[in-house]
Amino acid sequence: MNENIVWHSAIIDKQTRAQQKGHKPLVLWYTGLSGSGKSTIANAVEARLVELGAHTYLLDGDNIRHGLNRGLSFSDEDRVENIRRIGEVSKLFVDAGLIVSTAFISPFRADRALAKSLLQPGEFVEVYVDTPLEVCEKRDPKGLYEKARRGEIANFTGISSAYEAPEMPEIHLQTASQSIEQSVDQVIDYLVTQGVLK
Ligand code: PPS
Repeated sequence: MNENIVWHSAIIDKQTRAQQKGHKPLVLWYTGLSGSGKSTIANAVEARLVELGAHTYLLDGDNIRHGLNRGLSFSDEDRVENIRRIGEVSKLFVDAGLIVSTAFISPFRADRALAKSLLQPGEFVEVYVDTPLEVCEKRDPKGLYEKARRGEIANFTGISSAYEAPEMPEIHLQTASQSIEQSVDQVIDYLVTQGVLK
C-alpha cells in the first residue's frame, strides 16, 4: 500500500444509510456449479425483496465478466482475482446499505472466506445452490458441458476444474428436489428469521 494514500472517514456511514433503507445490509452469496440455478434463484429472490420494499443490487457472473472483470480467464489464478474483486465490490454495496446478491460459481472455499472476512458478522450469507453435476450437465442451458466434455473448454468447473462445496452454508438449497418458488421462500424465510427484513 502506498504510504501517501490516506483513508478518509465519511460523514454518512453504513448505519445511517441502513436506517434510511429500513433493513439490514448484507450479501447473499450464491455459490454452485454452472447451471445449478444461481442466477435464476438470485433474480427471483431479488424480485421478491423489491416487492417487500428492500433496496437491492445483483452482481451476476456472466455479466460482470463482460465489464469489470473482462479479461479474466477461468484459470485458478484468475478465478481467485474474479472473486476477490467481487468481494470488494460487495463490501461497497453493503456499505451503501443494500441487500446485494452475488451469483458466481466461486468454486474455492478460501476465496469465499476472504469475501466473508471483508464484512461484519451476519453480513455474509452463504447460499449453497446444491445441484449435482449430473443434473447440471443434463440441464446444460448454454451447451457448455457438452463442449467441455468434447475438450473444447479448458478448466471447466466440475469437469476439469475443482468445485469446493460449502461446509456450513447459512442456506442450503437443493434444486433437484425443490422448485424455484420453494428456494425463494427458503431464502426469504431465513432473512425474516434473522431480523434482516422488518
Ligand atoms: S468463477 O469460477 O466464480 O470465477 O466463475 P463465474 O465468474 O461465476 O463465471 C461462470 C460462468 O462462466 C461461464 N463459463 C465457465 N464456467 C466454468 N468454467 C469454465 N471454464 C467456464 N467458461 C465459461 C459459464 O456460463 C458460467 O455461468 P453460470 O451462470 O455459472 O452457469
